[in-house]
Amino acid sequence: MSDFEFRSNRRDLFKLAGAGAAAAATLPLVPMSAFAADPKFTLGEPKPGFILDPDVLYMNIGTTGSTPNHVLKSFNQDNREVARNPLETFGGVTPFREAIAPGFGAELEEFVISYNTTDGMNKILAGVELREGDEIVTTNHEHPGGNGPMNILAQRYGVKITRVALPVGNDQKAGDYVDLFRKAMTKKTKAFVFSAPTYLTGVMLPYKRLAKLAQKNGIMTIVDGAHATGMFDLDFHKTGIDFWGCSGHKWQCGPGGTGVIYVRNRVSKHNPLPLFNFWPTNTNNTLLTGPRTNDNAATYNVGTAMQSIGNPNYPMLKAFADTCAFWDEIGRGAIEKHDLALSLDLKNKIADRWGAGYLYSPKDDPELLSALTSFSPFHKANARVGLGQSEAETAQSTTFVTRMREEYGIVIRNTAVPVIGSPAPHHPMRISTHLFHSTEDIDRLVGAMVELTSKMAGA
Ligand SMILES: Cc1ncc(COP(=O)(O)O)c(C=O)c1O
Repeated sequence: MSDFEFRSNRRDLFKLAGAGAAAAATLPLVPMSAFAADPKFTLGEPKPGFILDPDVLYMNIGTTGSTPNHVLKSFNQDNREVARNPLETFGGVTPFREAIAPGFGAELEEFVISYNTTDGMNKILAGVELREGDEIVTTNHEHPGGNGPMNILAQRYGVKITRVALPVGNDQKAGDYVDLFRKAMTKKTKAFVFSAPTYLTGVMLPYKRLAKLAQKNGIMTIVDGAHATGMFDLDFHKTGIDFWGCSGHKWQCGPGGTGVIYVRNRVSKHNPLPLFNFWPTNTNNTLLTGPRTNDNAATYNVGTAMQSIGNPNYPMLKAFADTCAFWDEIGRGAIEKHDLALSLDLKNKIADRWGAGYLYSPKDDPELLSALTSFSPFHKANARVGLGQSEAETAQSTTFVTRMREEYGIVIRNTAVPVIGSPAPHHPMRISTHLFHSTEDIDRLVGAMVELTSKMAGA
């Protein structure tokens, strides 16, 4: 990795860390017999270099991740340097964007470091030109970070929001999701907005197929990638998607208050549609805004316009760049394989112990797989939870999460999932498996969940 300084000065402040600390960090891929038939799935060793509490098995990266130790060390030092010598440490943001963007297959002019996914989704949805009578097709499993700005478009401009009801469980294939969007769209549909993966069941919506469907119909695509960055080896160009709003602090394990926005800025074979008009809503740059070109010439520098929002937090930006460099060095492909392999291992073990019907996340179609696993130890995903049972179902689920933490030292969470045919939402568990986990951790988790389920059944 090539070191660089965002500003050359006598103390080498803000020199991107990572290379040295990461020297011993290459993820050694060890083929595991269970996955030997499919080279896509290989398992790595558990990852050193994180200061996660050793007494706790932390499996809620979906809410937020843990910043690597070597990054934290320089982050702390950099904060002190800024406080000691404020102007010496003052510089531009561009070098950080230059360092991070290639890891996501993006050009500088289409890449923005944001504060989180919510910030990204708001800036994207406020910046696109959607007006009264236009329609968005989205899903009933979106996060408030996307629902909030869509709701503003509906209330402020009269944009119509159509929601496809997503199936839960293991019985559907990637093509089924595409069919749902195809059936829901009309001549007035201007945008598909969806999460990949979703936060409720962890299904990786088939974004490339959805991008193709959208492109054929002149529709823009906006993806909530809160869980995609840091989990998947993403090349934004190749995704064919127009806009991604992602987090930096979840699977990417950057410091809190970091995220990524991608705004497609070129016509290419991956997305031959002319660029959609886009207006940055936050900027202090009076030169870099305007309608976008409709051919394959670069349009105005959207990335720089959106990044120009006043003084940033330089140590935080550098810590984010360091974390991304760490991921690039380990190899984003290796991390993806590791995460998905562990996740499939967990899903298979749940299916063995409880039955595949208890899974809310699909496991058999590799296109739909992510490192989030959603399941209920108490009832099947297609169960009917009546309104009268809702309170008890919620309480049982919440008790399970609490007891997993208190009695087994394992941190997971539950979610509220709308399920087709069920009057009340379900509250399955959601488990995150990431680069610092191992198969031993999966076994410990499954053992604890089996024991707790039977304790609670006997209570
Ligand atoms: C799908 C999805 N979108 C958005 C968010 C909000 O994330 P952030 O904290 O990065 O704004 C979350 C957080 O859990 C999420 O799961």
